[in-house]
Amino acid sequence: MSKNIVIAIDGPAGSGKSTAAKNLAERLGLIYVDTGAMYRAITYLAIQKGIVNDRNSVIELARNVKLKLKFENGITRVFVNNKEITDKIRSAEINDKVSDISKIPEVRAELVKIQRKLGEDGNLIAEGRDTTTVVFPDADLKIYLTASIDERARRRHKEFLEKGINISLDEVKANLEKRDKLDSERDVSPLKKADDAIEFDNTNISIADEIETLLKKIKEIDK
Ligand code: DC
Repeated sequence: MSKNIVIAIDGPAGSGKSTAAKNLAERLGLIYVDTGAMYRAITYLAIQKGIVNDRNSVIELARNVKLKLKFENGITRVFVNNKEITDKIRSAEINDKVSDISKIPEVRAELVKIQRKLGEDGNLIAEGRDTTTVVFPDADLKIYLTASIDERARRRHKEFLEKGINISLDEVKANLEKRDKLDSERDVSPLKKADDAIEFDNTNISIADEIETLLKKIKEIDK
Protein backbone atom coordinates (compact mmCIF):
# COMPACT_ATOMS: atom_id res chain seq x y z
CA MET A 1 0.00 0.00 0.00
CA SER A 2 1.36 3.40 -0.84
CA LYS A 3 -0.70 5.40 1.61
CA ASN A 4 -2.28 4.83 5.00
CA ILE A 5 -5.73 3.76 3.98
CA VAL A 6 -8.78 2.98 6.07
CA ILE A 7 -11.21 0.37 4.72
CA ALA A 8 -14.55 -0.39 6.38
CA ILE A 9 -16.71 -3.45 5.73
CA ASP A 10 -20.37 -3.62 6.70
CA GLY A 11 -23.27 -5.91 5.88
CA PRO A 12 -25.81 -8.33 7.34
CA ALA A 13 -25.05 -11.46 9.38
CA GLY A 14 -23.56 -14.25 7.30
CA SER A 15 -22.47 -11.98 4.43
CA GLY A 16 -18.83 -12.96 4.97
CA LYS A 17 -17.56 -9.71 6.49
CA SER A 18 -14.91 -11.32 8.69
CA THR A 19 -13.72 -13.68 5.96
CA ALA A 20 -13.22 -10.77 3.57
CA ALA A 21 -11.68 -8.48 6.19
CA LYS A 22 -9.22 -11.12 7.43
CA ASN A 23 -8.13 -12.06 3.91
CA LEU A 24 -7.64 -8.45 2.85
CA ALA A 25 -5.79 -7.61 6.09
CA GLU A 26 -3.40 -10.50 5.51
CA ARG A 27 -2.87 -9.74 1.83
CA LEU A 28 -2.27 -6.03 2.38
CA GLY A 29 -0.62 -6.08 5.80
CA LEU A 30 -3.39 -3.97 7.34
CA ILE A 31 -4.44 -3.93 10.99
CA TYR A 32 -7.70 -5.87 11.26
CA VAL A 33 -10.28 -4.49 13.64
CA ASP A 34 -13.06 -6.93 14.47
CA THR A 35 -15.53 -4.54 16.12
CA GLY A 36 -17.96 -7.37 16.94
CA ALA A 37 -15.24 -8.93 19.14
CA MET A 38 -15.25 -5.73 21.21
CA TYR A 39 -19.01 -5.89 21.84
CA ARG A 40 -18.57 -9.56 22.67
CA ALA A 41 -15.76 -8.78 25.14
CA ILE A 42 -17.89 -6.25 27.06
CA THR A 43 -20.76 -8.75 27.09
CA TYR A 44 -18.49 -11.48 28.47
CA LEU A 45 -17.22 -9.23 31.25
CA ALA A 46 -20.72 -8.05 32.12
CA ILE A 47 -21.88 -11.68 32.45
CA GLN A 48 -18.80 -12.54 34.54
CA LYS A 49 -19.49 -9.67 36.90
CA GLY A 50 -23.21 -10.45 37.07
CA ILE A 51 -24.16 -6.97 35.82
CA VAL A 52 -25.51 -7.83 32.38
CA ASN A 53 -28.95 -6.43 33.20
CA ASP A 54 -27.63 -3.40 35.05
CA ARG A 55 -27.30 -0.75 32.34
CA ASN A 56 -25.36 1.80 34.39
CA SER A 57 -22.80 -0.74 35.56
CA VAL A 58 -22.32 -1.96 31.99
CA ILE A 59 -21.70 1.62 30.85
CA GLU A 60 -19.24 2.10 33.71
CA LEU A 61 -17.51 -1.13 32.68
CA ALA A 62 -17.20 0.00 29.04
CA ARG A 63 -15.75 3.33 30.18
CA ASN A 64 -13.04 1.75 32.31
CA VAL A 65 -12.09 -1.43 30.50
CA LYS A 66 -8.63 -1.81 28.95
CA LEU A 67 -9.44 -3.58 25.71
CA LYS A 68 -6.82 -4.88 23.29
CA LEU A 69 -7.11 -6.81 20.02
CA LYS A 70 -4.21 -8.65 18.40
CA PHE A 71 -4.65 -10.18 14.95
CA GLU A 72 -2.35 -13.19 14.67
CA ASN A 73 -2.40 -16.16 12.27
CA GLY A 74 -5.92 -15.42 11.09
CA ILE A 75 -7.33 -15.10 14.61
CA THR A 76 -8.33 -11.99 16.55
CA ARG A 77 -6.94 -12.44 20.05
CA VAL A 78 -8.88 -10.42 22.62
CA PHE A 79 -7.45 -9.15 25.91
CA VAL A 80 -9.19 -7.27 28.71
CA ASN A 81 -7.11 -5.72 31.42
CA ASN A 82 -4.20 -7.84 30.07
CA LYS A 83 -6.10 -11.13 30.44
CA GLU A 84 -6.82 -13.14 27.29
CA ILE A 85 -10.50 -13.99 26.67
CA THR A 86 -10.30 -15.01 22.99
CA ASP A 87 -11.88 -18.43 23.55
CA LYS A 88 -14.64 -17.13 25.78
CA ILE A 89 -16.39 -14.59 23.57
CA ARG A 90 -18.07 -16.86 20.98
CA SER A 91 -20.30 -18.91 23.26
CA ALA A 92 -24.06 -19.31 22.83
CA GLU A 93 -24.57 -17.26 25.99
CA ILE A 94 -22.65 -14.33 24.51
CA ASN A 95 -24.48 -14.68 21.17
CA ASP A 96 -27.67 -14.44 23.12
CA LYS A 97 -26.82 -11.34 25.16
CA VAL A 98 -24.58 -9.32 22.85
CA SER A 99 -27.42 -7.52 21.05
CA ASP A 100 -28.69 -6.13 24.37
CA ILE A 101 -25.24 -4.77 25.20
CA SER A 102 -24.60 -3.40 21.72
CA LYS A 103 -27.91 -1.49 21.88
CA ILE A 104 -26.66 0.78 24.68
CA PRO A 105 -25.59 4.10 23.09
CA GLU A 106 -23.04 4.91 25.83
CA VAL A 107 -21.35 1.53 25.33
CA ARG A 108 -21.21 2.13 21.58
CA ALA A 109 -19.74 5.60 22.15
CA GLU A 110 -16.89 4.12 24.22
CA LEU A 111 -16.10 1.37 21.72
CA VAL A 112 -16.33 3.72 18.75
CA LYS A 113 -13.75 5.94 20.52
CA ILE A 114 -11.35 2.98 20.78
CA GLN A 115 -11.99 1.99 17.15
CA ARG A 116 -11.33 5.52 15.88
CA LYS A 117 -8.15 5.73 17.94
CA LEU A 118 -6.92 2.56 16.21
CA GLY A 119 -7.75 4.21 12.89
CA GLU A 120 -5.78 7.40 13.55
CA ASP A 121 -2.66 6.12 11.85
CA GLY A 122 -4.56 4.41 9.04
CA ASN A 123 -3.46 1.12 7.49
CA LEU A 124 -6.52 -0.50 8.90
CA ILE A 125 -9.50 -2.58 7.88
CA ALA A 126 -12.48 -2.44 10.21
CA GLU A 127 -15.39 -4.81 10.02
CA GLY A 128 -18.78 -4.56 11.70
CA ARG A 129 -22.29 -3.29 11.79
CA ASP A 130 -21.69 0.47 11.82
CA THR A 131 -18.12 0.78 10.59
CA THR A 132 -19.06 2.45 7.28
CA THR A 133 -21.82 4.67 8.64
CA VAL A 134 -20.69 5.74 12.11
CA VAL A 135 -17.14 4.71 13.00
CA PHE A 136 -15.33 5.63 9.79
CA PRO A 137 -17.68 7.79 7.68
CA ASP A 138 -14.61 9.14 5.87
CA ALA A 139 -13.04 5.74 5.14
CA ASP A 140 -11.09 5.57 1.88
CA LEU A 141 -13.18 2.58 0.83
CA LYS A 142 -16.49 1.36 2.19
CA ILE A 143 -17.69 -2.08 1.26
CA TYR A 144 -21.21 -3.34 1.89
CA LEU A 145 -21.25 -7.12 1.54
CA THR A 146 -24.47 -8.98 0.88
CA ALA A 147 -25.61 -12.45 -0.11
CA SER A 148 -29.04 -13.99 -0.53
CA ILE A 149 -30.81 -15.10 2.65
CA ASP A 150 -30.61 -18.74 1.52
CA GLU A 151 -26.85 -18.56 0.95
CA ARG A 152 -26.23 -16.78 4.27
CA ALA A 153 -28.34 -19.38 6.06
CA ARG A 154 -26.44 -22.19 4.33
CA ARG A 155 -23.08 -20.71 5.46
CA ARG A 156 -24.20 -20.24 9.07
CA HIS A 157 -25.73 -23.71 9.14
CA LYS A 158 -22.43 -25.23 7.94
CA GLU A 159 -20.56 -23.32 10.69
CA PHE A 160 -22.94 -24.68 13.33
CA LEU A 161 -22.56 -28.26 12.07
CA GLU A 162 -18.77 -27.89 12.09
CA LYS A 163 -18.97 -26.83 15.73
CA GLY A 164 -21.09 -29.90 16.48
CA ILE A 165 -24.25 -27.87 17.03
CA ASN A 166 -27.28 -29.67 15.65
CA ILE A 167 -29.78 -27.20 14.24
CA SER A 168 -31.96 -27.29 11.13
CA LEU A 169 -31.34 -25.09 8.11
CA ASP A 170 -34.88 -23.68 8.42
CA GLU A 171 -34.20 -22.66 12.00
CA VAL A 172 -30.97 -20.91 11.03
CA LYS A 173 -32.76 -19.11 8.20
CA ALA A 174 -35.57 -17.97 10.50
CA ASN A 175 -32.99 -16.68 13.03
CA LEU A 176 -31.17 -14.73 10.34
CA GLU A 177 -34.39 -13.20 9.03
CA LYS A 178 -35.29 -12.12 12.55
CA ARG A 179 -31.83 -10.66 13.16
CA ASP A 180 -31.84 -8.79 9.81
CA LYS A 181 -35.14 -7.20 10.76
CA LEU A 182 -34.03 -6.26 14.28
CA ASP A 183 -30.68 -4.95 13.05
CA SER A 184 -32.20 -2.81 10.30
CA GLU A 185 -34.94 -1.38 12.46
CA ARG A 186 -33.02 -0.61 15.63
CA ASP A 187 -32.64 3.07 16.58
CA VAL A 188 -28.94 3.05 17.43
CA SER A 189 -26.55 2.44 14.52
CA PRO A 190 -28.95 0.34 12.44
CA LEU A 191 -27.68 -1.94 9.69
CA LYS A 192 -27.71 0.23 6.60
CA LYS A 193 -25.66 0.64 3.45
CA ALA A 194 -23.75 3.94 3.44
CA ASP A 195 -24.57 6.02 0.33
CA ASP A 196 -20.98 5.91 -0.86
CA ALA A 197 -20.31 2.25 -0.07
CA ILE A 198 -19.76 -0.20 -2.89
CA GLU A 199 -22.26 -3.03 -2.64
CA PHE A 200 -20.88 -6.46 -3.34
CA ASP A 201 -23.15 -9.47 -3.58
CA ASN A 202 -21.10 -12.61 -3.02
CA THR A 203 -23.93 -15.16 -3.30
CA ASN A 204 -22.47 -16.87 -6.36
CA ILE A 205 -18.80 -16.03 -6.13
CA SER A 206 -15.89 -17.90 -4.55
CA ILE A 207 -13.94 -16.29 -1.72
CA ALA A 208 -10.82 -16.20 -3.91
CA ASP A 209 -12.65 -14.35 -6.70
CA GLU A 210 -14.26 -11.98 -4.23
CA ILE A 211 -10.89 -11.09 -2.72
CA GLU A 212 -9.33 -10.52 -6.16
CA THR A 213 -12.19 -8.17 -7.12
CA LEU A 214 -11.92 -6.26 -3.84
CA LEU A 215 -8.13 -6.00 -4.18
CA LYS A 216 -8.63 -4.39 -7.61
CA LYS A 217 -11.01 -1.83 -6.08
CA ILE A 218 -8.47 -1.08 -3.35
CA LYS A 219 -5.70 -0.60 -5.94
CA GLU A 220 -7.94 1.90 -7.74
CA ILE A 221 -8.26 4.08 -4.64
CA ASP A 222 -4.60 3.65 -3.62
CA LYS A 223 -3.22 5.83 -6.39
O1 DC B 1 -19.94 -9.65 14.08
P1 DC B 1 -20.29 -10.37 15.39
O2 DC B 1 -21.32 -11.46 15.27
O3 DC B 1 -19.09 -10.81 16.15
O4 DC B 1 -20.98 -9.21 16.27
C1 DC B 1 -21.46 -9.46 17.55
C2 DC B 1 -22.66 -8.57 17.84
O5 DC B 1 -22.28 -7.22 18.05
C3 DC B 1 -23.75 -8.58 16.80
O6 DC B 1 -24.99 -8.78 17.47
C4 DC B 1 -23.75 -7.23 16.19
C5 DC B 1 -23.06 -6.36 17.23
N1 DC B 1 -22.18 -5.38 16.61
C6 DC B 1 -22.58 -4.08 16.61
O7 DC B 1 -23.66 -3.75 17.08
N2 DC B 1 -21.75 -3.13 16.05
C7 DC B 1 -20.56 -3.47 15.51
N3 DC B 1 -19.77 -2.55 14.99
C8 DC B 1 -20.17 -4.84 15.51
C9 DC B 1 -21.01 -5.78 16.07
